[in-house]
Amino acid sequence: MSAPATGRKAASSSEAHDHAEQARRQLQTLRTQAREHLADGAVTAGYGDLRPQVLALLDAALATELVCMLRYRRHHFMARGAQAKAVADEFLVHSAQEQRHADWLAERIAQLGGAPDFAPDSLLRRSHAQYVEGQTLADMVREDLVAERIAIDSYRSFIALLGNQDPTTRRLLETILATEEEHADELAALLPGLAGQAALHSA
Ligand SMILES: [Fe+2]
Ligand SMILES: [Fe+2]
Repeated sequence: MSAPATGRKAASSSEAHDHAEQARRQLQTLRTQAREHLADGAVTAGYGDLRPQVLALLDAALATELVCMLRYRRHHFMARGAQAKAVADEFLVHSAQEQRHADWLAERIAQLGGAPDFAPDSLLRRSHAQYVEGQTLADMVREDLVAERIAIDSYRSFIALLGNQDPTTRRLLETILATEEEHADELAALLPGLAGQAALHSA
Protein backbone atom coordinates (compact mmCIF):
# COMPACT_ATOMS: atom_id res chain seq x y z
CA MET A 1 0.00 0.00 0.00
CA SER A 2 2.82 2.36 0.75
CA ALA A 3 4.59 1.86 -2.59
CA PRO A 4 2.33 4.19 -4.72
CA ALA A 5 2.56 6.92 -2.05
CA THR A 6 6.35 6.66 -2.10
CA GLY A 7 6.24 6.76 -5.90
CA ARG A 8 4.14 9.97 -5.86
CA LYS A 9 6.52 11.49 -3.32
CA ALA A 10 9.50 10.65 -5.50
CA ALA A 11 7.75 12.11 -8.59
CA SER A 12 6.81 15.34 -6.85
CA SER A 13 10.30 15.71 -5.45
CA SER A 14 11.74 15.26 -8.95
CA GLU A 15 9.18 17.80 -10.31
CA ALA A 16 10.19 20.28 -7.62
CA HIS A 17 13.80 19.74 -8.55
CA ASP A 18 12.99 20.38 -12.25
CA HIS A 19 11.13 23.61 -11.38
CA ALA A 20 14.03 24.79 -9.23
CA GLU A 21 16.48 23.99 -12.03
CA GLN A 22 14.29 25.82 -14.59
CA ALA A 23 14.02 28.87 -12.30
CA ARG A 24 17.79 28.81 -11.75
CA ARG A 25 18.41 28.75 -15.53
CA GLN A 26 15.89 31.56 -16.15
CA LEU A 27 17.59 33.67 -13.49
CA GLN A 28 20.98 32.98 -15.05
CA THR A 29 19.66 34.05 -18.52
CA LEU A 30 18.12 37.20 -17.00
CA ARG A 31 21.42 38.09 -15.33
CA THR A 32 23.45 37.41 -18.50
CA GLN A 33 21.06 39.46 -20.70
CA ALA A 34 21.09 42.36 -18.23
CA ARG A 35 24.89 42.56 -18.61
CA GLU A 36 24.67 42.70 -22.43
CA HIS A 37 23.95 45.93 -24.37
CA LEU A 38 24.28 48.15 -21.29
CA ALA A 39 24.14 51.24 -23.55
CA ASP A 40 20.45 50.43 -24.23
CA GLY A 41 19.68 51.53 -20.67
CA ALA A 42 16.05 50.75 -19.76
CA VAL A 43 15.46 48.84 -23.03
CA THR A 44 16.25 45.22 -22.17
CA ALA A 45 16.13 42.02 -24.23
CA GLY A 46 12.65 41.33 -22.86
CA TYR A 47 11.18 44.45 -24.52
CA GLY A 48 10.50 42.60 -27.78
CA ASP A 49 10.11 43.74 -31.38
CA LEU A 50 7.49 46.38 -30.67
CA ARG A 51 10.00 49.17 -30.04
CA PRO A 52 10.08 50.84 -33.52
CA GLN A 53 6.27 50.91 -33.59
CA VAL A 54 6.07 52.27 -30.03
CA LEU A 55 8.62 54.98 -30.85
CA ALA A 56 6.70 55.98 -34.01
CA LEU A 57 3.42 56.21 -32.08
CA LEU A 58 5.08 58.13 -29.24
CA ASP A 59 6.45 60.54 -31.85
CA ALA A 60 2.95 61.12 -33.26
CA ALA A 61 1.60 61.60 -29.72
CA LEU A 62 4.37 64.12 -28.95
CA ALA A 63 3.58 66.09 -32.14
CA THR A 64 -0.15 65.99 -31.27
CA GLU A 65 0.49 67.34 -27.76
CA LEU A 66 2.71 70.15 -29.09
CA VAL A 67 0.12 71.17 -31.70
CA CYS A 68 -2.62 71.12 -29.03
CA MET A 69 -0.44 73.17 -26.66
CA LEU A 70 0.11 75.80 -29.40
CA ARG A 71 -3.58 75.88 -30.47
CA TYR A 72 -4.77 76.37 -26.87
CA ARG A 73 -2.17 79.19 -26.43
CA ARG A 74 -3.49 80.95 -29.54
CA HIS A 75 -7.08 80.53 -28.31
CA HIS A 76 -6.14 81.86 -24.86
CA PHE A 77 -4.89 85.14 -26.34
CA MET A 78 -7.64 85.47 -28.97
CA ALA A 79 -10.70 84.68 -26.82
CA ARG A 80 -13.31 87.48 -27.17
CA GLY A 81 -16.88 87.81 -25.95
CA ALA A 82 -18.99 87.96 -22.80
CA GLN A 83 -17.70 84.67 -21.35
CA ALA A 84 -14.19 85.10 -22.72
CA LYS A 85 -12.28 85.51 -19.47
CA ALA A 86 -13.30 82.18 -17.89
CA VAL A 87 -12.87 80.28 -21.16
CA ALA A 88 -9.51 81.95 -21.90
CA ASP A 89 -8.30 80.89 -18.44
CA GLU A 90 -9.41 77.33 -19.20
CA PHE A 91 -7.51 77.39 -22.52
CA LEU A 92 -4.34 78.39 -20.69
CA VAL A 93 -4.70 75.57 -18.15
CA HIS A 94 -5.20 73.05 -20.98
CA SER A 95 -2.21 74.44 -22.87
CA ALA A 96 0.04 73.95 -19.82
CA GLN A 97 -1.26 70.39 -19.37
CA GLU A 98 -0.59 69.52 -23.04
CA GLN A 99 2.95 70.88 -22.61
CA ARG A 100 3.43 68.60 -19.58
CA HIS A 101 2.15 65.64 -21.60
CA ALA A 102 4.63 66.49 -24.37
CA ASP A 103 7.47 66.54 -21.82
CA TRP A 104 6.46 63.14 -20.39
CA LEU A 105 6.28 61.63 -23.88
CA ALA A 106 9.66 63.12 -24.86
CA GLU A 107 11.18 61.70 -21.68
CA ARG A 108 9.79 58.23 -22.45
CA ILE A 109 11.02 58.39 -26.08
CA ALA A 110 14.54 59.15 -24.82
CA GLN A 111 14.29 56.34 -22.22
CA LEU A 112 13.42 53.90 -25.01
CA GLY A 113 16.51 54.94 -26.94
CA GLY A 114 14.73 57.26 -29.40
CA ALA A 115 15.17 60.99 -30.04
CA PRO A 116 12.14 63.23 -29.36
CA ASP A 117 11.36 65.27 -32.49
CA PHE A 118 10.50 68.91 -31.76
CA ALA A 119 11.16 70.10 -35.35
CA PRO A 120 8.46 72.74 -35.99
CA ASP A 121 8.31 72.32 -39.79
CA SER A 122 6.99 68.75 -39.62
CA LEU A 123 4.80 69.08 -36.49
CA LEU A 124 1.44 69.35 -38.29
CA ARG A 125 2.24 66.45 -40.61
CA ARG A 126 3.14 64.20 -37.66
CA SER A 127 0.29 65.33 -35.39
CA HIS A 128 -3.05 63.53 -35.31
CA ALA A 129 -4.88 66.70 -34.25
CA GLN A 130 -5.15 69.81 -36.41
CA TYR A 131 -4.28 73.44 -35.72
CA VAL A 132 -7.47 75.41 -36.36
CA GLU A 133 -7.49 79.03 -35.20
CA GLY A 134 -11.27 79.57 -35.18
CA GLN A 135 -13.04 82.93 -35.51
CA THR A 136 -15.40 82.94 -32.53
CA LEU A 137 -15.11 81.59 -29.01
CA ALA A 138 -17.60 78.84 -29.95
CA ASP A 139 -15.43 77.93 -32.99
CA MET A 140 -12.36 77.68 -30.76
CA VAL A 141 -14.06 75.48 -28.19
CA ARG A 142 -15.52 73.27 -30.94
CA GLU A 143 -12.13 72.81 -32.63
CA ASP A 144 -10.45 72.07 -29.29
CA LEU A 145 -13.13 69.49 -28.55
CA VAL A 146 -12.59 67.83 -31.95
CA ALA A 147 -8.83 67.71 -31.28
CA GLU A 148 -9.38 66.20 -27.81
CA ARG A 149 -11.66 63.53 -29.26
CA ILE A 150 -9.01 62.66 -31.86
CA ALA A 151 -6.37 62.43 -29.09
CA ILE A 152 -8.67 60.25 -26.95
CA ASP A 153 -9.18 57.71 -29.75
CA SER A 154 -5.46 57.72 -30.64
CA TYR A 155 -4.43 57.07 -27.03
CA ARG A 156 -7.07 54.34 -26.63
CA SER A 157 -5.82 52.41 -29.64
CA PHE A 158 -2.18 52.93 -28.61
CA ILE A 159 -2.96 51.53 -25.13
CA ALA A 160 -4.77 48.54 -26.67
CA LEU A 161 -1.79 47.84 -28.94
CA LEU A 162 0.64 47.87 -25.99
CA GLY A 163 -1.34 45.39 -23.91
CA ASN A 164 1.13 44.04 -21.35
CA GLN A 165 4.18 44.54 -23.59
CA ASP A 166 5.25 47.84 -22.03
CA PRO A 167 3.45 48.61 -18.75
CA THR A 168 5.44 51.82 -18.12
CA THR A 169 4.41 53.43 -21.42
CA ARG A 170 0.87 52.10 -20.99
CA ARG A 171 0.54 53.70 -17.53
CA LEU A 172 1.85 56.99 -18.90
CA LEU A 173 -0.66 56.92 -21.78
CA GLU A 174 -3.50 56.03 -19.39
CA THR A 175 -2.64 59.04 -17.21
CA ILE A 176 -2.59 61.34 -20.26
CA LEU A 177 -5.82 59.82 -21.61
CA ALA A 178 -7.63 60.55 -18.32
CA THR A 179 -6.69 64.24 -18.64
CA GLU A 180 -7.77 64.39 -22.31
CA GLU A 181 -11.14 62.97 -21.28
CA GLU A 182 -11.45 65.69 -18.63
CA HIS A 183 -10.56 68.32 -21.25
CA ALA A 184 -13.19 66.99 -23.67
CA ASP A 185 -15.78 66.87 -20.89
CA GLU A 186 -15.09 70.49 -19.89
CA LEU A 187 -15.23 71.72 -23.49
CA ALA A 188 -18.44 69.81 -24.23
CA ALA A 189 -20.03 71.46 -21.17
CA LEU A 190 -19.00 74.93 -22.40
CA LEU A 191 -20.20 74.54 -25.97
CA PRO A 192 -24.02 74.78 -25.68
CA GLY A 193 -23.86 78.15 -23.84
CA LEU A 194 -21.39 79.58 -26.35
CA ALA A 195 -23.27 78.30 -29.39
CA GLY A 196 -26.48 79.89 -28.03
CA GLN A 197 -24.68 83.18 -27.52
CA ALA A 198 -23.22 83.13 -31.04
CA ALA A 199 -26.72 82.55 -32.45
CA LEU A 200 -28.07 85.52 -30.43
CA HIS A 201 -25.24 87.76 -31.69
CA SER A 202 -25.79 86.82 -35.31
CA ALA A 203 -29.61 87.24 -35.06
FE1 LIG B 1 -2.52 66.15 -23.80
FE1 LIG C 1 -6.12 67.72 -23.94
